[in-house]
Amino acid sequence: MAALLELDHVAKAFGTVVVADELSYTLAAGEILGVVGPNGAGKTSMLNLITGSLQPDRGRILLDGRDITAMPVHARARAGIGRTHQVPHPFGGMTVFENVLIGASFAGQRTGADPRTATVAALERTGLLAHANTPAGALTLLDRKRLELARALASGPRLLLLDEIAGGLAEHEVQALIEIIRALRGEGLGIVWIEHIVQALVSVVDRLMATNYGRKLAEGAPKTVMASPEVQSVYLGQGIRA
Ligand SMILES: Nc1ncnc2c1ncn2[C@@H]1O[C@H](COP(=O)(O)OP(=O)(O)OP(=O)(O)O)[C@@H](O)[C@H]1O
Ligand SMILES: [Mg+2]
Repeated sequence: MAALLELDHVAKAFGTVVVADELSYTLAAGEILGVVGPNGAGKTSMLNLITGSLQPDRGRILLDGRDITAMPVHARARAGIGRTHQVPHPFGGMTVFENVLIGASFAGQRTGADPRTATVAALERTGLLAHANTPAGALTLLDRKRLELARALASGPRLLLLDEIAGGLAEHEVQALIEIIRALRGEGLGIVWIEHIVQALVSVVDRLMATNYGRKLAEGAPKTVMASPEVQSVYLGQGIRA
């Protein structure tokens, strides 16, 4: 059976800045891949390459074995790719419900699901139902992160891309997100989760990949990856430990 997601020697550079260097890996449905790397390593760019907002210079991206490299962003979203943004930017003047409804309406056209039902379900899964009528601009950072996740989930993704969803949160807030993400794995979603908080990743992911300058430094069991000399040397002095 084809992998849910496959990157096949994907390469991308902005001038001399390399953000993907012959990057190859696969992700199965129901699997969570954690991605770590220093600032500017190309992690967000990798997600942009998968969603289609960025085109690779070389290489292929496959979803269910189908080459989607030339497919535009909206078609990839329709094919089941959902993402959260590193910096949440909800429509601040709209309520939480309305923000999520946008994603759900989009999915409704594809799946025939009732957008309002899908919105309530996404708000329930992310613990936001009590804030359904709150203006998004009034949310705390944790709730804005939850809203990012709810919007992505409401679009009914099979592949979910998380870009530092736990960044900037207090430890107990990170724990709340971890519980939500754990539950998603049980539903068969494939997840690529970028995070600087290595402890959070290690407690959830099946596999960890460390990157720098768009290049894969190591991939495998989280503890083994973090212990590898190449990864340790990149993180030396940054205080990041497995
Ligand atoms: N559209 C663009 N045009 C030019 N350079 C870009 C563009 N997007 C990203 N870059 C550069 O590519 C490098 C990688 O950026 P990217 O945002 O992918 O890193 P990151 O690993 O997500 O970093 P962080 O951990 O800080 O979020 C950076 O040097 C960035 O300035
Ligand atoms: Mg980033």
